[in-house]
Amino acid sequence: MGPDAALAVDVPSGYGRHSCLLVEHGYDVIAIDADERALRHIHEGTSLGNNKLTCIVADCRADIPLATDTIFIAVVVHFISSALLQALSRIIRTGGYLIYETYGGNGDNYVTLPRPGQIAAALHPSFELLLYKEKAVGPKRNAATVKCLAKRVAVPLDHQPRPHNGEGATHQ
Ligand SMILES: C[S@@+](CC[C@H](N)C(=O)[O-])C[C@H]1O[C@@H](n2cnc3c(N)ncnc32)[C@H](O)[C@@H]1O
Repeated sequence: MGPDAALAVDVPSGYGRHSCLLVEHGYDVIAIDADERALRHIHEGTSLGNNKLTCIVADCRADIPLATDTIFIAVVVHFISSALLQALSRIIRTGGYLIYETYGGNGDNYVTLPRPGQIAAALHPSFELLLYKEKAVGPKRNAATVKCLAKRVAVPLDHQPRPHNGEGATHQ
């Protein structure tokens, strides 16, 4: 990886559409996914310089294998996991950014989408919400789609988030 470029993580990356964009914008990118085949596709199927892209096979519902306070920008698109959000608050450095988007509310998606307000609550107090768009979905409107840009902020010791109690981010 280059010595000067900021570090970005695309998690889960799938076939790497956002990883490629991040490399094009000058970031050193870490693509993480549980699907080794998808990561191989990114590695072999693109013309990205190998020194700009690192692929890691990992379960991103567990703590992801990256050092604390190292990431400048994290992209999470079409994936919902409270454990992942907690891991990102550990690895994104103060002043870094999280771009987060759930999948849409079509069909039965509301079953696994978060509740209204749930993602904002999960990001507090580690992130400042610069942009937060939430749309209630589902038959009872008690699930939500979310698009969000958040900035990692320093958290005073007496305001540290409570320890994580299991996955629990999805709406049933
Ligand atoms: C809907 S795709 C989204 C991929 C990418 N963010 C995008 O927008 O193109 C969901 C991805 O999550 C990955 N995935 C599912 N469960 C996972 C897990 N526990 N850990 C890591 N990746 C996982 C799948 O392999 C798949 O590539």
